[in-house]
Amino acid sequence: MLREVTAIRYVEPLRSGGSVPAVVEADDLGTYVVKFTGSAQGRKALVAEVIVGELARALGLRFPELVLVHFDPAVAAEEPHQEVRDLHDASAGVNLGMDYLPGARDFTPEIARLFPVDPLEAGRIVWLDALTVNVDRTVHSSNLMVWPTFGTAPPRLWLIDHGAALVFHHRWDTTNPGRKYDFRHHALGQYGPDVRAADAELAPKVTEELLRGILAEVPDAWLTDDPAFATPEEARAAYVDHLLARARLSAEWLPTDFPDRAELAAEEAARAERSQRGRPDWLKRVPDLHGRPAAEQDWSVHLG
Ligand SMILES: Nc1ncnc2c1ncn2[C@@H]1O[C@H](COP(=O)(O)OP(=O)(O)O)[C@@H](O)[C@H]1O
Ligand SMILES: [Mg+2]
Repeated sequence: MLREVTAIRYVEPLRSGGSVPAVVEADDLGTYVVKFTGSAQGRKALVAEVIVGELARALGLRFPELVLVHFDPAVAAEEPHQEVRDLHDASAGVNLGMDYLPGARDFTPEIARLFPVDPLEAGRIVWLDALTVNVDRTVHSSNLMVWPTFGTAPPRLWLIDHGAALVFHHRWDTTNPGRKYDFRHHALGQYGPDVRAADAELAPKVTEELLRGILAEVPDAWLTDDPAFATPEEARAAYVDHLLARARLSAEWLPTDFPDRAELAAEEAARAERSQRGRPDWLKRVPDLHGRPAAEQDWSVHLG
């Protein structure tokens, strides 16, 4: 099972993430990013975090340790925002924690210019995302961290945030394990991901035994929301069967033919043009950043 710790100090909320996770210190002296059972994304997001994260680790990808965090909302009593306090109150008890990577940076196209992305590693990550139908590792929201960043050791890619993976678990009645994966805007599509090599290497590693072991890590209490299953064991079996079938059908969903930079730029320009069209003249002068920050921090200083 995942290790269990208790939150003893609230450090801060991570407002850049849609689910407002919290950074806490725990009684084992570790620092963790806590994803809450009471968040709008629901407990299925935590189920996806455990399954996909542990699968990533088993397949040799870098993924911070996961723990179960006992969280008493009184620990975060100084949180000033009512909506964040409501989230904490709705999450008293066991939540999911991920080891906090101090000083890590989000992977962005700007950072990628300073950081060599290995096509084999990129291929493995895309392959995992396609297997687990992760719709949240895009050029706009990479959910990849670069760590360490201070030149003492080479920077490496770390996977985080798999709450939006396993899309099929929201509609078990219409699931098709061979379904294609929309990879056009994948965060690593531009770095020559070798998905065929990844498929040859990783597909045979996804065994029933591996999947059963991973599903055993998911707490029973997070597997009781779906009326399709009478017991947590039934739910676990459905995840194992689906992922196993999907791994065997990789030829049907293997992403190839990533759009090149020019194609993506043209798509982006067309999108910007569409959103400009209905704007009044004065608003046309405001840059349309599609939610991206206006400027990237210059972090070349951190790369020795
Ligand atoms: N383990 C971690 N170490 C350091 N920073 C993290 C870690 N996990 C998340 N973060 C930071 O918090 C942000 C939000 O976390 P994320 O897991 O993506 O939550 P959300 O589900 O809300 O998108 C990330 O983009 C990243 O900047
Ligand atoms: Mg995220």
